[in-house]
Amino acid sequence: MKRSEINEACLRASACFKKFCWALPPSPKWDVTDFGLGNFPRFGLTLVNLAAEPEYCEKLMYARAGQTTPCHTHKKKKEDIICRAGTLALRVWPGRPEREDCVGAGEALVPVDGAFSRIPAGRPFFLEAGQRVTLVPGVWHTFASASRECVIGEVSTANDDLNDNVFLNPDIGRFPVVEEDEAIKFQLLRK
Ligand SMILES: [Fe+2]
Repeated sequence: MKRSEINEACLRASACFKKFCWALPPSPKWDVTDFGLGNFPRFGLTLVNLAAEPEYCEKLMYARAGQTTPCHTHKKKKEDIICRAGTLALRVWPGRPEREDCVGAGEALVPVDGAFSRIPAGRPFFLEAGQRVTLVPGVWHTFASASRECVIGEVSTANDDLNDNVFLNPDIGRFPVVEEDEAIKFQLLRK
């Protein structure tokens, strides 16, 4: 990713967090990713780690309309994905789907707002502000902003972005290579 794209993403996310009264830590470590796919408006996510402890983690995330986090699961991490502002579209699968656009092969039994729901595999469902879904390892998932912009929360067990994410697309890399085309304006978690 170009540094200018990263700076702009952090600027947009900052403005949106402020709009919805989410105060960031004093020295936020930003994490901006295009998942190595080179199309940030389509596949991208802007994150700040609010808490990263050996036992638990909290993240605050931002996505623009349609901006998608590609299909993945986790080896160990259990996470709640929470819509904090806007509307969040998600799709889940009970096991590894053949393709990211697979719809209708079974259903996933996942807690939505703490109550188990049967969700058809790969069919979009929506969370409004305040709602959450609980995902355990082995449940594959993808999410995207279904509103102009979306503030997304993640509360989870220990986070290990280097080793715990399993993406369906083998070309995906969690941290992009940065091309320095302008000055650094926001400190990244990893350069
Ligand atoms: Fe996830």
